[in-house]
Amino acid sequence: LPTFTPETRQALETLKEAPPVPGVLDVIRHRWSPRAYSDREVSSADLKKLFEAARWAASSNNEQPWRFLLGRRGDETYAKILNALAEFNQVWAKTAPVLALSVARKAFVSNGRANRFHLHDTGAATANLFLEAFALGLRSHAMGGFDPEKARASLAIPQEYEIGAVMAIGYLGDPNTLPDQLRQREESPRERKPLEEIVFSSWETPAQL
Ligand SMILES: Cc1cc2nc3c(=O)[nH]c(=O)nc-3n(C[C@H](O)[C@H](O)[C@H](O)COP(=O)(O)O)c2cc1C
Repeated sequence: LPTFTPETRQALETLKEAPPVPGVLDVIRHRWSPRAYSDREVSSADLKKLFEAARWAASSNNEQPWRFLLGRRGDETYAKILNALAEFNQVWAKTAPVLALSVARKAFVSNGRANRFHLHDTGAATANLFLEAFALGLRSHAMGGFDPEKARASLAIPQEYEIGAVMAIGYLGDPNTLPDQLRQREESPRERKPLEEIVFSSWETPAQL
């Protein structure tokens, strides 16, 4: 295997950067979702920062519907989250030292009414977490490929909470450790729809920006 030198790492990180747009924050442009993680553990101090960042996200009625189950390599929660993952995610996610699961309270605590924004706001908190992670030198990767009811059962998550997404967190590892197909994706540039397709002045008419 070719070795993962600081130079090849830098080349990979550069390949993953969104093209520069003046005024767009570097953490937003540079964040990406790797599948290869190194052995390096994540400190409790850094994990605390990630969840602090999540905590300060905006939410409807300041409900803060998000909850997170945190698994660290070797503990039971980690094993349960890993076990709920689809095999196509297990193959790489098992290299990450941290696996977490987001869940969202479905109803407002104050009046019991359905909170239409529970997953929306939990996603916003997760986005904060991912950006904070990137800024700390950590990398992260969200996953929907898992069995939510398996996770609910093994982690004893009450029905009042919707199952959100799994996330892998850790430090970047060597893409050469991945199976061929995943390695190719690891080494492909990131892509997005153009603004014209997502920002409208009236329905499907691109906003003039
Ligand atoms: C809710 C959600 C679910 C995802 N599920 C998976 C998954 O099951 N497996 C996987 O490898 N990547 C998964 N991804 C990662 C996306 O494919 C990735 O974020 C997207 O391709 C954009 O790439 P980037 O994050 O590197 O910019 C998921 C991302 C999100 C936000």
